[in-house]
Amino acid sequence: MLPQLHGRKGPKYKALAEAYADMIDNGEIKAGTKLPSQRILSYQLGVTVGTVTRAYQELSLLGKTLSVVGSGTYVKETLSADSYYHPLDSQQGIDLSLCRPLIVSQQQHLHNALQQMLGQPQAQSAILDYFSADGLCGHSDTLRQWLNQRWHSKLTPERVQWTYGGQHGLSVILQALTRSGDTVLTEGLCYGEFIHSCAQLERRIQPVAIDDQGLVAEDLLLQCQRHRPRLLYLTPNVQNPTAVQLSAQRRLQIIDICRRFDVLIIEDGVMYCPPEQRQLPLASIAPDITVYVGSFSKYFAGGVRVGYLVLPANLRVPLLKALRSTCMHVSPILIDLICRWLCSGAMEEVDNHIAMELRARYRILTQHLERPADHVIQGFNYWLTLPPQHQAEQVTKQLYELGVRVRSGQQFCVGGYGQVNAIRLSLTGPKTRDELRAGLEIVRSCVR
Ligand SMILES: Cc1ncc(COP(=O)(O)O)c(C=O)c1O
Repeated sequence: MLPQLHGRKGPKYKALAEAYADMIDNGEIKAGTKLPSQRILSYQLGVTVGTVTRAYQELSLLGKTLSVVGSGTYVKETLSADSYYHPLDSQQGIDLSLCRPLIVSQQQHLHNALQQMLGQPQAQSAILDYFSADGLCGHSDTLRQWLNQRWHSKLTPERVQWTYGGQHGLSVILQALTRSGDTVLTEGLCYGEFIHSCAQLERRIQPVAIDDQGLVAEDLLLQCQRHRPRLLYLTPNVQNPTAVQLSAQRRLQIIDICRRFDVLIIEDGVMYCPPEQRQLPLASIAPDITVYVGSFSKYFAGGVRVGYLVLPANLRVPLLKALRSTCMHVSPILIDLICRWLCSGAMEEVDNHIAMELRARYRILTQHLERPADHVIQGFNYWLTLPPQHQAEQVTKQLYELGVRVRSGQQFCVGGYGQVNAIRLSLTGPKTRDELRAGLEIVRSCVR
């Protein structure tokens, strides 16, 4: 079947490429078909071989064909942009289970950063290279300056390290600083992937009691005496899943106990905390015994996969060794994007937008379900305690059947911590406020 050129404007090679592209798009030519040789086609159409060569190059640039050296030009299997960028495991319904940052202006900031990069050949060449795990001077400086401003600190270069996000940071810490059989203490209800990482690496995980002020210091003391743990993992700013914040008094008690028992604190600061509720990290109060795990996943975009550690300088060597073994070094391309957003003010702008949208979403929660207690941090997750006549596992299943996904509280229980009758609702799972309203209405119908 020959492409028809008449009626098409512009240079002949473009007209030929467009004619072929249309035939491919509307299914007249199927994926895998070999296009005619350039010489034969030029003869059949009465155009020069050069015109066909340029047309084939254009088709290849459009992503429609693939040239195989010595064999010819073949039509590629193509998906529409919609299907190409469709998640493989996507599910129907309303998602109140995924704790993702709200997408506000991030796409515009990505566009701006890429455009800025286009005019910077030095940056382009640098970020394509291999490095040691330390990375690039400018990237490290940018991160330090940003942290110093937020924490009112003076971090030295050896105290910061990039990672591929919070989960990677935690995994590197477990590998570097613990051995098989070591005990790690955690809050009784804990971020699930940390529990899985400990299980996978054969670290024993031991729960410590929590209440509405966070980790209970008396129980920490007891568990330290009993288990002689190596690490304490905790989320002082916003607890995942309960959204409780560790009180000022408990912070000091915990640091004191950890010093007495020579326990290293792993402070997870990944979860989004609204600006007015943020507290200075334990890492700025007890920098010698705390490794801080930070990430831009919840503060900007989960897909960027960039985070960082703030560590005591004496732990740099083992931590970098473990990091190298997992990934050599973190992609400077991704870090460069983050640094551009840190410098341009994009990160702060997104932070403020997220905080504003969250306030609106908490108003919806109050209207449709219940008013959050005063001690709850109004971040991404809401911990809904159920009345005894409703069992969390059953409610979770029932909601699933009604097209609403939530997490049952039991998923967050660290072995032996006991029963909880609650579900975790992620207020940022739904992309729109209307979807959130609809989801919360269904939740209400099941639990009231
Ligand atoms: C408490 C906590 N820490 C760490 C992570 C992982 O962060 P990242 O997505 O940056 O790997 C999560 C993700 O949900 C989390 O909730």
